[in-house]
Amino acid sequence: MKGIPGFTVYPLIGNSLNYISSPVKIFYLLRQLPNKFGDVNEAHALNKRVVNLYSPQDIEKILSSVRHISKDIPYTFFNPWLGEGLLTSNGVKWQQRRKLLTNAFHFNILRKYSRTIIEQSDNFLNKVEAETENEMTDIVPLISKTTLHIMCETAMGTSMRNGIKEVIDKYFKAIHIFGNCMVQRFSRVWLFFDFIFAFTRNAFVQNRIVKNLHEFTDNIIRERKELYSRGLVDVDEVLNNNGRLAMLDLLLQEETQGRIDMQGIREEVDTFMFEGHDTTAMALSFILMRIANEPEAQNKIFDEIQSIFGESNRLPITEDLNKMKYLDCCIKECLRLYPSVPFIARYLTEEIELSSFKIPANTICNIHIYDVHHRADIFPDPEQ
Ligand code: HEM
Repeated sequence: MKGIPGFTVYPLIGNSLNYISSPVKIFYLLRQLPNKFGDVNEAHALNKRVVNLYSPQDIEKILSSVRHISKDIPYTFFNPWLGEGLLTSNGVKWQQRRKLLTNAFHFNILRKYSRTIIEQSDNFLNKVEAETENEMTDIVPLISKTTLHIMCETAMGTSMRNGIKEVIDKYFKAIHIFGNCMVQRFSRVWLFFDFIFAFTRNAFVQNRIVKNLHEFTDNIIRERKELYSRGLVDVDEVLNNNGRLAMLDLLLQEETQGRIDMQGIREEVDTFMFEGHDTTAMALSFILMRIANEPEAQNKIFDEIQSIFGESNRLPITEDLNKMKYLDCCIKECLRLYPSVPFIARYLTEEIELSSFKIPANTICNIHIYDVHHRADIFPDPEQ
């Protein structure tokens, strides 16, 4: 590690003092590191060490190898809530779950979710329309609640439709409180250690929130399971009638085959609720912002939609999406500019030889998606 550039190092605390800042300042600090230290740089404190990676070649080497799929910090911060779901699990457990859940996201099943997505998009547009009288509206919470509603219905099913608004409000608040605890933990290196974090006020708040979130998901799962055991849900009928089969239904079917247990179902439902709603809400918010600021692109998108629907008021169908080629480019370009997940990480269980350095085992590699997407050598005029 000694050859890898980074801030000046002191005994024990390493160079961690440089990273003690507000989350926003850390975001900007991380953007400056490649200019200061190059595409591979390091940070460490006590027995924790991190390498920041910004070069596509090095990142490809890690992400394309089945040997480097382990995760540690910051994913372990999610464990109290998400347990060992798909996002946080490792090794054989991850491989089994991944296989099981890939079936749950077969294209034909995604089609069944489209009804919910269309309904909620309409609801969202009605809410925006109701705001037109106001001079200013923050649409991010409106978008986040829309995607959370979609995730609630598609992950947990329509059985929880009664009172769904209260549920979403509660869940929305809880997720954001948990998120704040996470962000603060991430910007205080000493809180990386569970035994220190456990004594903080945030740990107390987090435990209370997690208990609520778990109770909520457990109840939904138990109720749905009971409906099955009383023979009140006919999965075949739901499937054949183009009904709405939630991810939870699929997981309960897998449970009867012994491929997942009740705790595992909760882990995956929670994981998808989290991963599915915030990523899409951020993406949609940035996409709308950018399209609003680019009238030329906006007109092209409008013309494309006109060429598909004309004067018709019919509901969109999945096949329409294939025709929205220009809109697809705009969405992808916005995901390049504003990736909802700006960085991911892998924990090396064995050493790896990158283009300019050998990185030892037991190192966390931060993969900075945001910076790769903004490299001027790959994307000339990267902010455009
Ligand atoms: C714009 C939308 C989205 C973006 C940008 C996005 C981005 C990502 C990224 C970068 C990862 C990799 C995380 C890692 O390896 O550390 C990931 C994983 C994951 N995402 Fe998404 N995501 C989006 C939407 C969704 C949705 C809608 C769902 C669920 C319905 C979802 C569920 C998951 C799950 C379960 C994982 C873990 C997969 C695994 O490790 O096998 N994501 N996502």
